[in-house]
Amino acid sequence: MLQDRTCLVTGASRGIGRGIAEELGRYGANVVVNYRSSEAEAYDTVDAIKEEGGTAIAVQGNVADFEDVQSMHETVRDAYGPVDVLVNNAGITVDKKFENMTREDWDRVVEVNLGGVYNCTKVCFEDIRQAHEGRLINISSVVGQQGNYGQANYAATKSGLFGFTRTIALELASEGSTANCVAPGFVKTDMLDPVPERVKEGILERIPLDRFAEVEDVVGVVRFVASEESSYMTGQVLGVNGGMEW
Ligand SMILES: NC(=O)c1ccc[n+]([C@@H]2O[C@H](COP(=O)([O-])OP(=O)(O)OC[C@H]3O[C@@H](n4cnc5c(N)ncnc54)[C@H](OP(=O)(O)O)[C@@H]3O)[C@@H](O)[C@H]2O)c1
Repeated sequence: MLQDRTCLVTGASRGIGRGIAEELGRYGANVVVNYRSSEAEAYDTVDAIKEEGGTAIAVQGNVADFEDVQSMHETVRDAYGPVDVLVNNAGITVDKKFENMTREDWDRVVEVNLGGVYNCTKVCFEDIRQAHEGRLINISSVVGQQGNYGQANYAATKSGLFGFTRTIALELASEGSTANCVAPGFVKTDMLDPVPERVKEGILERIPLDRFAEVEDVVGVVRFVASEESSYMTGQVLGVNGGMEW
């Protein structure tokens, strides 16, 4: 279904990004596994894709650094040609109550979660526009929809993706390419680990399906958005959150 499509997944060494990379590989894509520092995990992801008969390479690059992203894009083009599908997945949290949140805490999150999305979309934009049904997929969060105590910086970046995605959707539409957001709820990855148990219990009470998401709950939705089956869907936010209202 994604045969010969070049799919770049940022932050694919671990967690949701890794799951997405493996899923796209399973469906025939040429997968680019981006990572910042987890080199061994990134190569594990590549090996896992290859073991299932897929095609993948790992490319190091800090998405917040424009020169890194330009060089990553050149590596991808040399290996597989232009990018058909960009999944902006890399993201970080620096959680604090707003009264304790410094400007540095704010900037760190904005630089990766929004600056990284700008950088990667900027270098891939022309590829996606000119691709046959190119796809931009931004991984947002239910936190961008609802807000979350101690995550003003993170929530702002994840809400920011809605306006960005909607706008890029308009700018890609004339060529038949699309831009959409996938907004997961709370997913069992390293990102959820530091959240104290009592806070997790409070979150769980707000999830109608009464469980945290597995990575596998998210990846099939991303694969659908990446595929030609989603041709007539653009500028949308797909919530994958166990029924949390917003
Ligand atoms: N987990 C959740 O509950 C949840 C819910 C909703 C949305 N999300 C979103 O889903 C995405 C993935 O989250 P996750 O839970 O899978 O996180 P994770 O397990 O912490 O993994 C984060 C990934 O992003 C990469 N990364 C971080 N900063 C980077 C940078 N500057 N440049 C390149 N790569 C970078 C990491 O690579 P290195 O290890 O190499 O640094 C890692 O591969 C994020 O955008 C997150 O906001 C997560």
